[in-house]
Amino acid sequence: MTVKVLVAYATKMGSTASIAAAIGSELRDAGCDVDVHELGAVQAVTPYDAVVLGSAIYQRRWMPEAVRFLRRHERQLTARPVWLFHSGPLGAARDQDQPVPPDVARLARLVHAPAVKTLAGELQADAVTHHRDLERLVGDSRDWQKIRAWSRDIAAALLTSAPALER
Ligand SMILES: Cc1cc2nc3c(=O)[nH]c(=O)nc-3n(C[C@H](O)[C@H](O)[C@H](O)COP(=O)(O)O)c2cc1C
Repeated sequence: MTVKVLVAYATKMGSTASIAAAIGSELRDAGCDVDVHELGAVQAVTPYDAVVLGSAIYQRRWMPEAVRFLRRHERQLTARPVWLFHSGPLGAARDQDQPVPPDVARLARLVHAPAVKTLAGELQADAVTHHRDLERLVGDSRDWQKIRAWSRDIAAALLTSAPALER
């Protein structure tokens, strides 16, 4: 049986999209059947056996569409394995786990997701035109090895439980 996985993400400047693509590619290499979509393009999670969902962090919050998605699909997400990540920290803070916003933490508990994974982000020069204090953080802090390692952990968990996912 092939495990069908949705990797869905919310982004403002695009760097979380590449993280989602890398997760998708690693899961595919492990034998999963994967769709990678921006959250706005996802109508339902019911076609999928498992979901990986992530959001960029802005001002310590998730993108509103990601929180809305978790709320809207809570019941269906509860019925399948879910992994959550957020992308944000930059520069010297790149390896620091970021606090999970309370609304997300509550929803993560409801859908029985494991601890939210923090993945370092990328800050583009365009993003800081109104935030001069952030100029020194411009650059790409994304850690592709960490992203791939986490994706392999997900794949291993999924493939171990594949028979149980059969619906
Ligand atoms: C105005 C602003 C606020 C930000 N706030 C946070 C924050 O609170 N925590 C964090 O870890 N990263 C923060 N970041 C960094 C972004 O999360 C990071 O650049 C991320 O990779 C952007 O993702 P995106 O390109 O998918 O939108 C902030 C960036 C900007 C421009």
